[in-house]
Amino acid sequence: SKPVTLTELARMRAAGEKIAMLTAYDASFATLCERNGVDVLLVGDSLGNVVQGQKTTLPVTVEQMVYHTECVARGSQRAWIIADLPFASYQESREQALRNAARLMAAGAQMVKIEGGAWLADTVRFLVERGVPVCAHIGLTPQSVHQLGGYRVQGRSEEGAAQLKADALALEAAGAAMIVMEMVPATVAAGITASLRSMATIGIGAGKDCDGQVLVLHDLLGVFPGRKARFVKNFMQGAASIDEAVAAYAAAVKDGSFPAPEHCY
Ligand code: KIV
Ligand code: NA
Repeated sequence: SKPVTLTELARMRAAGEKIAMLTAYDASFATLCERNGVDVLLVGDSLGNVVQGQKTTLPVTVEQMVYHTECVARGSQRAWIIADLPFASYQESREQALRNAARLMAAGAQMVKIEGGAWLADTVRFLVERGVPVCAHIGLTPQSVHQLGGYRVQGRSEEGAAQLKADALALEAAGAAMIVMEMVPATVAAGITASLRSMATIGIGAGKDCDGQVLVLHDLLGVFPGRKARFVKNFMQGAASIDEAVAAYAAAVKDGSFPAPEHCY
């Protein structure tokens, strides 16, 4: 089938067709995911946790992201490929962000993801004007785990929720085409999604009313040994193969049955 483009993602959002996104770090899983209904592959810096065994995503380098993006791109024919800009590779200046985004794009990424709110609007505009599609990431932003005091739900207070909404609106105005919302109360994420005109919202622990969902592949397969977050579902339970588990995830995102209330805040 046809490659997924930004235009196709915009059509899906407008038509209310849920976007199924999953992380991938290598060619074999990239191929497996897209043949089982995954629309978007995220080369996440979560590879620091699930591939490298690090406690946080902070040690992940641009070089490592380039390597895994190349691996995923070789295994992919159809999916839209997003790569994370890792910690301290974009926060210094918009020029630094473009320089490192260019390396990920040359490696096969079609969009880059950066963590942060309205303060990144200038950077988003700078990248988008220069041909780099941007996915934003707000709520629990793992690169700021030490600043946030742990992996905790964000936007629970009225002020916190208002800040997240203001951030999302500023990032959309700056040209971000997509935004990941992580560990945000479902009602807050639903309100933000409803207030946006064009930017697609992708939830992870952000309720079912986002335009799409994302999970970390190793969490979906139940192979990550760490403590499981509330938003995680092991799709290998009841599946006869990895293909079946990924297909079940994509189908559950599409029909709105994932996330269920027990996965939400
Ligand atoms: O790195 C990652 O896997 C991510 C997702 C959890 C959104 O950023
Ligand atoms: Na990430």
